[in-house]
Amino acid sequence: MNAPTPTIDVPIDENMPPEKFHALMRNAQWRLRNLYWISDKDGKKIKFRPNAVQQRFIDNLWYRNIVLKARQRGYSTVIQLMMLDTCLFNDNVRAAVIAQDETSAEVIFRDKVKFAYDNLPPTLKQANPLTKDSQSELMLENNSSLRVAISARSGTFQWLHISEFGKICAKRPDAAREIVTGSLPTVDRNGIICIESTAEGAEGYFHDMTRSPRPRPKRRRNSATSTIAFTSHRGGTRRNTSLTRSG
Ligand SMILES: Nc1ncnc2c1ncn2[C@@H]1O[C@H](COP(=O)(O)OP(=O)(O)OP(=O)(O)O)[C@@H](O)[C@H]1O
Ligand SMILES: [Mg+2]
Repeated sequence: MNAPTPTIDVPIDENMPPEKFHALMRNAQWRLRNLYWISDKDGKKIKFRPNAVQQRFIDNLWYRNIVLKARQRGYSTVIQLMMLDTCLFNDNVRAAVIAQDETSAEVIFRDKVKFAYDNLPPTLKQANPLTKDSQSELMLENNSSLRVAISARSGTFQWLHISEFGKICAKRPDAAREIVTGSLPTVDRNGIICIESTAEGAEGYFHDMTRSPRPRPKRRRNSATSTIAFTSHRGGTRRNTSLTRSG
C-alpha cells in the first residue's frame, strides 16, 4: 500500500510527534506554506500562502526561469522566500538577488528577506542563527548566505535572482551587460536562475530573452548572448527554459 501523501496544510503543533515534525520539515512545499510570514499590501503580517500565480511559479520552477510579468503579482515575495528556505535548509548555499537600484535592493532585503527571517518560528532561528546581519546580507551558521545588491560579480552562486531585468536593461545597459557576461555564468548548471521583469521597451537583453521563440538566425558564436545556455537537465531530460507569462 502506498504511504499517504502528507498534506501541505498541516499546521505546526507543539505536541506533534517528532517523526511527524521532521517529515514535515523535509517537505519544501510544506515549509513554504507554514514557516514564513509576509507583510501584505495593507501592511498586515500574514502567514504566506501562495496565490495562484505564485503556486504556478513554484510548480514550474526550473534551473533557468524567465518571467515576463504583470505588476504586483507576488514574484519578489515567492522567489525571496524560496531562496531563504534553500539557505535555511541547506549548508554552504550562496544566493544573491540583483536589484535594479540601491533603494530597491534595500527594500527587497528589508521587507522580503529580513522580515521573513525575523518572523520565523524561534526554534528555527535558534537552530540556524545569523552570523552576519547587515543591511544587505544574511549569513547563517550553516554557512549559507543570501544577499541583495545591484551587482553580483564575485563568487559562485547556487541561486541568482535578477529582479526587474527589463528596467536594468533600459536604465543601466552596462549593468545589464555585466549581469549577462559576468553574473549569470557564476551559477553552475545545477543552480537556479530567476530573471523577472515587466516589459520595458522593445530592445535589450530582457526583450530578446522573452521574445516568442522563432527559428534562430545563423550568427557568430562570439556574441555576448551565446555565453548563456538557457537550457538545463533535470532527471536526465533536457528541457528549454521555463518561460512564464503572467497576465
Ligand atoms: N501570497 C500572498 N498573499 C498576500 N499578499 C501577498 C502574497 N504575495 C505577495 N503579497 C503582497 O503583495 C505585494 C506585492 O508583492 P511582491 O512585491 O512580491 O510582488 P511583485 O510581483 O514582485 O511586485 P512588483 O511588480 O512591484 O515588483 C506585497 O505587498 C506583498 O507582500
Ligand atoms: Mg518585484
